[in-house]
Amino acid sequence: MSKYLVIANWKMNPSTFQEAEVLFRNILKAVRGLKDIEVVFCPPFVWLPRLAVDFFSVRPKSQLKLGAQDCHWEKAGAFTGEVSAPMLKDLGCQYVILGHSERRQYFGETDQIINEKIKIALKTRLKPILCIGEKETEREELSVVLENQLISCLLGVSQGQLERLVIAYEPVWAIGTGNACGVNDAMQAAILIRKILARLYGRFLSQRIKILYGGSVNSQNSKDYVSRVAMDGLLVGGASLNAGEFIKIIKSLVE
Ligand code: PGA
Repeated sequence: MSKYLVIANWKMNPSTFQEAEVLFRNILKAVRGLKDIEVVFCPPFVWLPRLAVDFFSVRPKSQLKLGAQDCHWEKAGAFTGEVSAPMLKDLGCQYVILGHSERRQYFGETDQIINEKIKIALKTRLKPILCIGEKETEREELSVVLENQLISCLLGVSQGQLERLVIAYEPVWAIGTGNACGVNDAMQAAILIRKILARLYGRFLSQRIKILYGGSVNSQNSKDYVSRVAMDGLLVGGASLNAGEFIKIIKSLVE
């Protein structure tokens, strides 16, 4: 198992495949051969097939992996416009981001929907990256918010599936704002999450779950989250669209 996990969440960017390819190639060149790190690219659905064929089919064992930003909760059916977990698996995806705060905010996703998605992703043998985190107005109730989200989203997830589960702590107020979570607050959240997981699954098994930090990560603050907060990696949005900045972030963890 790699020591650190870094997820690039490209969201609805870039607008052309040509730009996506240049971005991907530049990052690939710089991170190839780095040890102790796994980097997961989560581009928009439409860029997945070409990236999968052009880059991932030839080196399935590299430390670079492909992931999606969402999937549907059913494995197939009449759901116009949707993409299923088995389709992602068939393409060569290994990860899927679920429960991102933008999905919750703009597409009305509830913990219950996210729970269904987590279960189908695990059943399909994808690795779900479950995003949790409090809104600005909920900062005083951090432990309640995190506990409710974890309990609801992980309902029915068995001990045997824990190894494939990743949790991303993403305070909503820190996403895309430039206002990253301070080291002490991130530490408090990480401790709370570990405690809740230990209560749900026992201390020993819960240690297998990787916990990432996400929210305005850049090359100046990236190292702090793994060295001072003991996170297992990062979920990077905006900064993952800038090859130079993203490469610095990755290297800050392992060099
Ligand atoms: P950001 O996004 O790095 O641009 O804050 C993180 C995320 O949305 O996952």
